[in-house]
Formats: sequence, structure tokens, C-alpha cells
Amino acid sequence: MKDLDINNDTLKHLFQKFRSSSSSRYLFQPSISKWNNDLNESDYENHISESSDTFDLYIHIPFCSNFCTFCGCNIKTSTQEKDHKNLLEALFYEISIHKKLLKNKKLLNLYLGGGTPSLLSTDMMKSLLNEVYSSYNLSANFEGHIETTPYNLNESYITILKEMNIINIKIGIQDLNQSVLNRINRTKQSESLNKFLELKKKYNLKIQIELVAGLPNQTENSFIKSLDEIVSWDVETITIYPLAIKDNLSKLHSDLGFIPLNSDEKVNLMFKSAQSLLKKNFKPLGFDCYRSSNSIGKYKARSTFGFSTSKSDLLIGIGPSAISIGKKFIKRNENIYEKYLYLCRQNNLFNQSFKHKMTEKNILINNKIDSAIQRNEIDIETSSKFDSNLVENGQITNYGRLFLSSILDKLPR
Ligand SMILES: C[S@@+](CC[C@H](N)C(=O)[O-])C[C@H]1O[C@@H](n2cnc3c(N)ncnc32)[C@H](O)[C@@H]1O
Ligand code: SF4
Repeated sequence: MKDLDINNDTLKHLFQKFRSSSSSRYLFQPSISKWNNDLNESDYENHISESSDTFDLYIHIPFCSNFCTFCGCNIKTSTQEKDHKNLLEALFYEISIHKKLLKNKKLLNLYLGGGTPSLLSTDMMKSLLNEVYSSYNLSANFEGHIETTPYNLNESYITILKEMNIINIKIGIQDLNQSVLNRINRTKQSESLNKFLELKKKYNLKIQIELVAGLPNQTENSFIKSLDEIVSWDVETITIYPLAIKDNLSKLHSDLGFIPLNSDEKVNLMFKSAQSLLKKNFKPLGFDCYRSSNSIGKYKARSTFGFSTSKSDLLIGIGPSAISIGKKFIKRNENIYEKYLYLCRQNNLFNQSFKHKMTEKNILINNKIDSAIQRNEIDIETSSKFDSNLVENGQITNYGRLFLSSILDKLPR
């Protein structure tokens, strides 16, 4: 396999060629605009019962304490107990309707995502986790994952997460530079960092960091400075997402004078970051992610929600906008929070969800995507479309891992 000591001009050329347009962040096909809505409830139940004996569960908790102006996630800014209780009630409903369907399977990965799941009180988080653990059988290899921010995680929360077996922690940082944080409405992040880093040390937390390249006010120097500082924290992985702007934010951005980097500047930032991390002995781990030498061999599987040791064929997603996906189907819950609650109360969530039965072609492409992501393999026909620095004899090279999203975008649809 191609080594990583490639000269920088080649790497720069590859960045300009493959990252100058934004690539999709989907890890499945087809995209939602092409779904047929042809899956009925008994198909869904049959597909679940036919799938193998483990499953992964994603729980979407959309709450955030503030709205970050770049954010493309499905969120609701609320710290109100009443909203949180209503969500919990709906999640309990979804957990219960899947109980019988999943009774012969074991839960392998639990992903708590959002939004910011740690905005739920510790009591609510405990009760949610107890409900999951008492409703489903846990695999002996069970792993619990959560994503959060440094300013929404305190000592009692960390204790509860540890006690309740949620040990993989993904922390959104985006950038450390205060002028960038001000532009994205994360003004208080810096204040919370020292406290968070003390807790990380005290509890020996293994953390995964997420950053965004392309934000207003970012410069090459300031971003590399942020990266260097983060490397010094001793983290497991660093993911650098290229900024993607949701269509419905354009008006807000122009009102706020939110001016993102242009595509050349963004690609340059990603290139410099890659260069800097590779020099520091980080290795590409697919989809804009780099792992430190501490985590060799640990993150073997990649899903939409990040890394884990292993992954199931079946993902059940609960909560507003959550996606469920199996080999033969895909389904997305209603994404508007209030409507989602209403549909759960009316016992009508399935009918009003977006859904699709995978065609033979979809299954074929998803298998290709999966073998590229999980095993670095790509078929010879697709291989021929790529520079030999990225794909060699059907194997995605270490550099190819840096461009994985672009490689997946080139698969025939
Ligand atoms: C689901 S969000 C939740 C994480 C957490 N609430 C936080 O604030 O970091 C997960 C990550 O998606 C990335 N993200 C969100 N919006 C994005 C966008 N518009 N473009 C690129 N990445 C984005 C950010 O890095 C963020 O940390
Ligand atoms: S980046 Fe995180 S905290 Fe900010 S709005 Fe998005 S999900 Fe919420």
C-alpha cells in the first residue's frame, strides 16, 4: 500500500482536484429526494426480523443551549424541562414499539447524538438509558457513544455516563480561535475548556474531536494553532469537516454578515491541516478523520455517527429526523420536533415517516460503499477513475482515506 511520505505537491494537487467541490456526507444511497415511500409496516418488520442477530441504536436528542450559526444538524434550542420531558415520553414510545421486533437480537452500539444529548438532566439521561437497557438485550461487546460540547459536560454528567457504560465521547470544538467562535455564536466555549480538560485528565477520558474548516474569520495560521493545541490534549481522533451550508441558512447568513471561506481557502485549510496532522504521526481514518497513534486498531468500523469497534447490519434510529437503515430499507422519522411529538402521541409515526425499499441497484452500491469504508476495497472498474495515489489495485491507499468522501461520490449511482 502507498506510504504516507508522499511529497507535498502531490498531496496539494489531490486536494485541489478532489476537494474543491463539496462532497456528500451520506454513507448510503439513494439520497432522500429519490426515496419511493414504498415501504409498509409489515415490510419494515420483516426486514428487521431477517437481519442478523445484532443491531445498533441511534437516539436523536435535538436540544441545544444556543444555536451555532453554521450548524446543519436537526436541532431545537431549548433548556426547558417540559420540552425535555415531552421528548423522553416520545422516545419511550419508540423504544417500546421496537421491543417485540428486537427481542431476539442484541444491542451492539448505542449512539446518543443531536443536538447535544448531555443537555438532558442527569436524571433524565439515567432514565432514558435504563429504559434502553431494560428493553433490549445487550451484546457482550456493547459500546455506548455520545456527542457533546465542552460547555455542556460537567463532572456529575461524566460520572453518570461512565456508570451507565457510555464511554466513547465525541466533543464538538469547531475551532479554538475566539474570533471564529464569536462568529458562530459559541462565545462561551473558551471559558469552559480548562475545566473540561481537567475532567478529561481526572477521568482519563478517551475523546474524539470534531472541527469545521471554512468558517468565517478562520486563517491558516489560526487554524493550525488550534489544531496544535488540540493535538497536545492527547486525543484519539480528530475529524475536520468541510463547512456545508444548509440552504435555509442563506438568508440568516446574509443578515448576520456570516462570510464563510471561499472554496479555495477552504481546500487550502484542509490541505494544511492534513499536512500538519500527518507530520505529527496522525493517520487518515476515512471521511476527513485522522487517528492518533494511541488509537491504532481501535476504530475498525465507521457509521454515519462516527467510529466503533464493530457495527451491525441494522441501525434503528429513534427521535426526530432519526434514520433507520437495513440492507433492504431506509426510513427517516419526521424532523420537525413538534410534529414528531404529535405523531408519537397519535401512534402514527411510521405512516408519516419518509421511507424507501432498497432496489437491487441500491443494495449493490451500498455494498460497494460499505466495503470502501470498512475494508478500503473498491471494485476495479471504479478504481480506474482514480489517481494511483488514491486507489491501487482495488485497494484505497492511506492517502485515498483522506479523500474517501470524494471516492464514494464517484461510485456509479
Ligand atoms: C451533530 S453535531 C453535534 C455536536 C455538538 N452539539 C457540538 O456542538 O459540537 C456534530 C458535528 O457536526 C459538524 N457539523 C455541524 N454542522 C456542520 C456543517 N454545516 N458543516 C460541516 N460540519 C458540520 C460539527 O463539527 C459538529 O461538531
Ligand atoms: S453545533 Fe452542536 S451545539 Fe451548535 S447548534 Fe449544532 S448541534 Fe447545537
